[in-house]
Amino acid sequence: MKKKENYSKSNNLLHKIENHFAAIAPRYRKLRTTDMEPILFIEKELNDMAKLKGADIGCGAGRYTVRLVKQLGEKCHLLYCIDRSEHMLMQLKNFFVEHGINHFKILHSDAHSVPLKANSLDFVISFNAVHHFNMPNFLNETARVLKSKSKLFIYTRLKSQNTRNVWGKHFPNFSEKETRLYELDELEHMIENTPNLTLKSIKFFEYERISTLKRLEEQAHGNHYSTFKLFPKKEFNKSLDMFKKNIIENYDVNHVTWSDQNILLVIES
Ligand SMILES: C[S@@+](CC[C@H](N)C(=O)[O-])C[C@H]1O[C@@H](n2cnc3c(N)ncnc32)[C@H](O)[C@@H]1O
Repeated sequence: MKKKENYSKSNNLLHKIENHFAAIAPRYRKLRTTDMEPILFIEKELNDMAKLKGADIGCGAGRYTVRLVKQLGEKCHLLYCIDRSEHMLMQLKNFFVEHGINHFKILHSDAHSVPLKANSLDFVISFNAVHHFNMPNFLNETARVLKSKSKLFIYTRLKSQNTRNVWGKHFPNFSEKETRLYELDELEHMIENTPNLTLKSIKFFEYERISTLKRLEEQAHGNHYSTFKLFPKKEFNKSLDMFKKNIIENYDVNHVTWSDQNILLVIES
């Protein structure tokens, strides 16, 4: 009985998050901050390989995908853009067209079972998405589609990094509600347990941010992190009021500063 209850709870959550991504798709790129540093790092990592065929899994509306394709230039032969949200993929398609990019294919698919042949890709990237996946299934599927000596790049924020950003510090219950993120040892353990994948290196990123309270409020109201969808409405409003109070007490509201932290795992097949 308990198992059934838990199953339907997690199924409800899954639907809620799916609906969240469908609703937010048209505004997603504007609500989030996109950094070039991981793109430049990945470009260097792929430096000695030519004519690449890759995939972005959990690509969303393509804010990182477009930057990567542009940065790789002619070197990138074909990119598969894979996501479970049709709404996100529609946004990505328009964004690619706007940028005059046409060497891509959209695959509306789950990260755990992608319609690609075994040993067919030179790289896979996944930005800010693995905490939505069943990680062992995703890793096994990636190991299947990657050619030997190819690379998987996972960009995410760790659970502990999430407690140190402006939301984790000042928005009550933000980091407590966000139980989907991993710690580094958990990620390492899951990679170790995946046949044919080896963790090669880990890169830590830290970004100094400046914003205004107005913009931060807009982002929270816009649910720029899906974490906000985990709050019941009343609790969200209460936390947002506390957040505003905390910001007003600690900063100039037109110059709110903090640092965001992320991690990039380089995994070899
Ligand atoms: C937080 S967004 C990140 C999107 C994009 N990578 C970015 O950084 O802007 C997570 C994306 O993962 C997708 N997603 C979640 N679970 C998925 C799954 N099981 N298979 C494929 N895509 C999934 C969502 O639809 C959403 O577009």
